[in-house]
Amino acid sequence: SKGHLVMKSFSLVPQGDKSLLLINAGMAPLKPYFTGAEIPPRTRVATCQKCIRTGDIENVGKTARHGTFFEMLGNFSFGDYFKHEAIAWSWEFLTKVVGLDPERLYPSVYLEDDEAFEIWNKEVGIPAERIFRFGKEDNFWEHGAGPCGPCSEIYYDRGEKYGCGKPDCTVGCECDRYMEVWNNVFTQFENDGNGNYETLQNKNIDTGMGLERLAVVVQDVDSIFDVDTICSLRNLVCEVAGKEYGKDYQTDVSIRLITDHIRSATFMISDGIMPTNEGRGYVLRRLIRRAARHGRLLGIEGTFLAKLSAEVIQGSKDGYPELEEKKEFIFKVLTNEENQFNKT
Ligand code: ALA
Repeated sequence: SKGHLVMKSFSLVPQGDKSLLLINAGMAPLKPYFTGAEIPPRTRVATCQKCIRTGDIENVGKTARHGTFFEMLGNFSFGDYFKHEAIAWSWEFLTKVVGLDPERLYPSVYLEDDEAFEIWNKEVGIPAERIFRFGKEDNFWEHGAGPCGPCSEIYYDRGEKYGCGKPDCTVGCECDRYMEVWNNVFTQFENDGNGNYETLQNKNIDTGMGLERLAVVVQDVDSIFDVDTICSLRNLVCEVAGKEYGKDYQTDVSIRLITDHIRSATFMISDGIMPTNEGRGYVLRRLIRRAARHGRLLGIEGTFLAKLSAEVIQGSKDGYPELEEKKEFIFKVLTNEENQFNKT
């Protein structure tokens, strides 16, 4: 309704970007449009981008919200609309389209960004005490070299039952109560990779919202492993392992880890990545081997990853037809790697 061109997800393999091993955000494949190096097909674009982030891999399985694979929804402006529209539309989308309770939503802005603060306060009507100001670590978005800028995030309060119970638990706490669902980045700068920032010719908007996290909030479930689309895969892991979910913490960690890693591995192979000993191939090898190892911890014997991968493909092939096209190849790569690892 805001005139965006909806584009297909780009490959997980970055094209012409040496600063990234894997696409980790909706904006990553669009960098040339932000810098002006290439002309976008329209100045307003929206995508649902497959993403991999392995920086928090040790947390996967242990928290409600960490996964190495996720789908990121985003709307982007290349020198078109800026802060006023982006903030108003993100609020409109969450409260009117998705229908979340505005009383549970809390925006944050970059420490010095009085303009964003004023927009939230005066134009959207959020009381000042409900708007949080955070520093560079939380509210300045950059990943590798390229376009970046201050950002304004929106947190959803999932309620006390998900909280850590500490007296100072509030928006920004590391626990699972306040879940960041939306990020509006005001992409004004270009980082040359050495920490030097140049002001971009155009002011741009880059937004991101994890589809899985949004589903957690909308479906009011415990974790990303409980949303309807991921639950069937998690249940299949339980079936293959002969285990029940929710009975034992360590068992659950393994079940969640396998559920996450098989999604990443399946998508990576469908984009032509092979398990190797370096670069993105090594990331894939590590994901497959971690999943296989946790299968052993659960008592699974023999190869099992291809069977789980079939479930990933079944659930996601409508959005990503390349999964179905490469199906047999994906199974072969997974099983070969699993066999090789089992021998080791
Ligand atoms: N690029 C921003 C993010 O990933 C929207 O959070």
